[in-house]
Amino acid sequence: MKIIIGCDHAAFGLKETVKHHLENRGVQVEDVGAFSEASVDYSQIGMAVASKVSDGGYERGILLCGTGLGMSMVANRFAHVRAALCNDLFAASMSRRHNNANILVMGGRVIGDVLALEIVNTWLETPFEAGRHQRRLDQFDDLAGKAT
Ligand code: RB5
Repeated sequence: MKIIIGCDHAAFGLKETVKHHLENRGVQVEDVGAFSEASVDYSQIGMAVASKVSDGGYERGILLCGTGLGMSMVANRFAHVRAALCNDLFAASMSRRHNNANILVMGGRVIGDVLALEIVNTWLETPFEAGRHQRRLDQFDDLAGKAT
């Protein structure tokens, strides 16, 4: 699996931890930054990752900022992106089982590294249940940018 990952300054440390964890699991990681704790706009990084998932260049992405809120808002503006803010294990599991989330978002100022890595593992290993959940996703899949 290939995963594209990005963060802002508030989650730089967590991004490095998650990236190394993914590489240790044999995942190929494309890191679009940030590359230090110098202040950057989460919106720019969020767009860089979400656009690549939206156009099919990457099947999955991970976005990290201070709360996870800004990254979620940006990412979900892109067609075919289902970004899920998961700061707990139940949300991580359900975001895959029912929502087929293709971008995992976490808040580096909200959770610690150990929980974050458990969330990543759960999110990678939990399959989508499809069925009625696919029907529901189909109803809004191409809506991004068109909703009023
Ligand atoms: C940066 O200070 C902070 O606003 C950002 O990391 C994020 O939490 C935004 O939603």
